[in-house]
Amino acid sequence: MDIQWQDVGDDAALVQCETDCLVMGLCEKNPLESPLAEAIDQASGGLLSRLQQTRELPRKAGDTLLLHAPAGIGAKRLLLAGLGASEKADGARSSLAAARAAAAALIASRAVTALWALAETPTNLCSRSQMLAFSVRALHEADYRFEQYRKPAEESVPERRVSLIAAAADTQARRSVRVAAAAAHGVALTRDLGNTPPNVCTPRYLAEQALALGRDWELAVEVFGGTELEALGLHAFQAVAQGSVEPPRLIVIRHQGGPPEQAPIVLVGKGVTFDAGGISIKPSAGMDEMKFDMCGAAAVLGTLRACAELALPVNVIGVVAACENMPGGRAQRPGDVIRSHSGKTIEVLDTDAEGRLLLCDALSYVQQTLAPDTIIDLATLTGSIVIALGHVHSGLFVNRDPLAAALLRAGEQSGDSAWWMPLDEDYQPQLKSTVADLANVGGRPGGSITAACFLANFVGDVPWAHLDIAGTAWTSGANKGGTGRPVPLLVQYLVDRASL
Ligand code: BES
Ligand code: MN
Ligand code: ZN
Repeated sequence: MDIQWQDVGDDAALVQCETDCLVMGLCEKNPLESPLAEAIDQASGGLLSRLQQTRELPRKAGDTLLLHAPAGIGAKRLLLAGLGASEKADGARSSLAAARAAAAALIASRAVTALWALAETPTNLCSRSQMLAFSVRALHEADYRFEQYRKPAEESVPERRVSLIAAAADTQARRSVRVAAAAAHGVALTRDLGNTPPNVCTPRYLAEQALALGRDWELAVEVFGGTELEALGLHAFQAVAQGSVEPPRLIVIRHQGGPPEQAPIVLVGKGVTFDAGGISIKPSAGMDEMKFDMCGAAAVLGTLRACAELALPVNVIGVVAACENMPGGRAQRPGDVIRSHSGKTIEVLDTDAEGRLLLCDALSYVQQTLAPDTIIDLATLTGSIVIALGHVHSGLFVNRDPLAAALLRAGEQSGDSAWWMPLDEDYQPQLKSTVADLANVGGRPGGSITAACFLANFVGDVPWAHLDIAGTAWTSGANKGGTGRPVPLLVQYLVDRASL
């Protein structure tokens, strides 16, 4: 997908431009009142007015209508996309939904060239530059294919060329499109890693991908394995890994965009490349989806890629703890007590609550060695967050209110939303053990909250956020696959941090 700017002058000129497809948006209320809609209606001899009379115009976000060979205008096809109502609270996200529907319809139309005028129809749901950013993300997303492991559905598709209308394009629009493209590339990398089958995407593979990313984008990458990893004393991480023949890897990736003395923002990713549950084995139905249990790690790599592409003037370090969680003769047992990196002991009552074990060690390692300004961990941590929030919002847990505000804002702005969940001390008694400092599970009530509270025991006086992405990192069903979330949220947060 090649996305460019094109300056066409005014609406009258735009209507006459030759292209395979002209894409435009229609407001739900008064769809024909925008200058572009008026220009098209006039040039086509009242095409849009007739469609309005027959109530065929798409108006809701997500609705589209493709018209072939429209009379009087330069384009071979006219793609109309509804932009939705104007007083909804989820304005930004419905605009992203409108852009996604338009992008999917454009790609289904088989047009090779397109003029993208979706942001030329003003709405009060989002700004023009935000609509352009959503458009760029939606176009990349709709164009995404994962076909390394089968015969492609279509042989040799020509590269699509989409021109964004540049008339009145301000520097703000160009900036947000640049950010959106970098986020989209990060999303694609994150989706690729998530979709890669678990016999290929092992901890070693993730480390190789991180090293390759480092070579391509001049990021410093360190990989710890074997005796080197053992020497770090991440015993809780190793306890999870020991049930598998695949050796674990701890991966550290650095984007040095700020001055060396600036404390880094550290992103920590759960990289369980397959979660069978260990001895507390999972039921077999749908277990294949546990290849996605490394989506937090994948999002760390995707976000670091975006930081590098944008040359963000801020220091960001990605830390990934990668291993498998398998049953086996060497696997940890329910009842085992392990001494974590922090020194706190943990009774492993359920080996399937493994994410918190590797994360607690990664968190304490990060605080001991990296002097972080802020830590954000990303993890497909609990089935319980899917019960609480479904597949719409990622679960956000924080130990500092201002950090929550910044991340929630970034989620709104990027259309990659998070929902603020509680982290009260009152939940801590659920994690009491009869033999160790902590138990690794707190029972069914508030399962995603007790998981976050478990992690909070390993975070000192540093601003910390935990994003539980178990409901948002991938989709199930016919379109099963990684989503790339929460890369857009994180890129937005880091862009906001960088311009302070
Ligand atoms: N990776 C899973 C979480 C998960 C489960 C994500 C289902 C998406 C769908 C995690 O390691 C896990 O198994 N969590 C357990 C914790 C429980 C044993 C306390 C869960 O959520 O069931
Ligand atoms: Mn598990
Ligand atoms: Zn897991």
